Amino acid sequence: MTENVSVSWQEYYAKTGQRSPRPTLLYALDRFAEERDPEEQLKAVDLGCGSGRDTIELCRRGWAVLAIDAEASAIESLRARPDLPTDAMLETCVERFEDADWGEVNLVNAGFSLPLCPPQVFPDLWKRIFRSLRRGGRFAGQLYGDRDEWAGDPTLTHLTRAQIETLLADLELEYFEEEEDDAVTPRGKPKHWHIFHIVARKP
Ligand SMILES: C[S@@+](CC[C@H](N)C(=O)[O-])C[C@H]1O[C@@H](n2cnc3c(N)ncnc32)[C@H](O)[C@@H]1O
Repeated sequence: MTENVSVSWQEYYAKTGQRSPRPTLLYALDRFAEERDPEEQLKAVDLGCGSGRDTIELCRRGWAVLAIDAEASAIESLRARPDLPTDAMLETCVERFEDADWGEVNLVNAGFSLPLCPPQVFPDLWKRIFRSLRRGGRFAGQLYGDRDEWAGDPTLTHLTRAQIETLLADLELEYFEEEEDDAVTPRGKPKHWHIFHIVARKP
């Protein structure tokens, strides 16, 4: 089972790893660029970084990054990327994000990864994400809604819009897009998607 999951993630990394950074990350980075001194050293954690489509962009913009993924092959692919800047301030860690400790950061980025957290541990993970953000820090990423086709899988977290609004109540919402449509997954399977794309700032 574990081997199949790993093989299937490798297929995902091969198909998506070279794609452009997620719009949620770019939106958050543009907000930081508007308000911060370019000399200030900012730190991000990329939870479930995969093969690094977002991590690379953070490194390219001079951020210090801790990239965490449960799959060793994700970190190996990231480390092997020819577009990883030679002066990147990058630390990597093969660990489940529910178990990881990443300290204080300016940005928690989680592109399509948090829904893969089991629902029993998601509330605690979200609390730790919130606490780890410095004042003025941001969360950027995706959560899955309750009408997503995978809802009901006990290993995944799906939330209603109201539940997501409650999660975000102590943050300033800067970007909030609810997407619901039929499309294929990166692995080529048709799927009904219900996704919330989020950038939120800690006051
Ligand atoms: C859908 S991919 C997204 C990858 C990348 N963030 C992106 O935006 O393309 C989800 C990634 O999260 C990782 N992942 C899933 N559950 C995880 C967990 N509990 N802890 C750490 N990583 C996890 C997977 O190994 C995979 O690399």
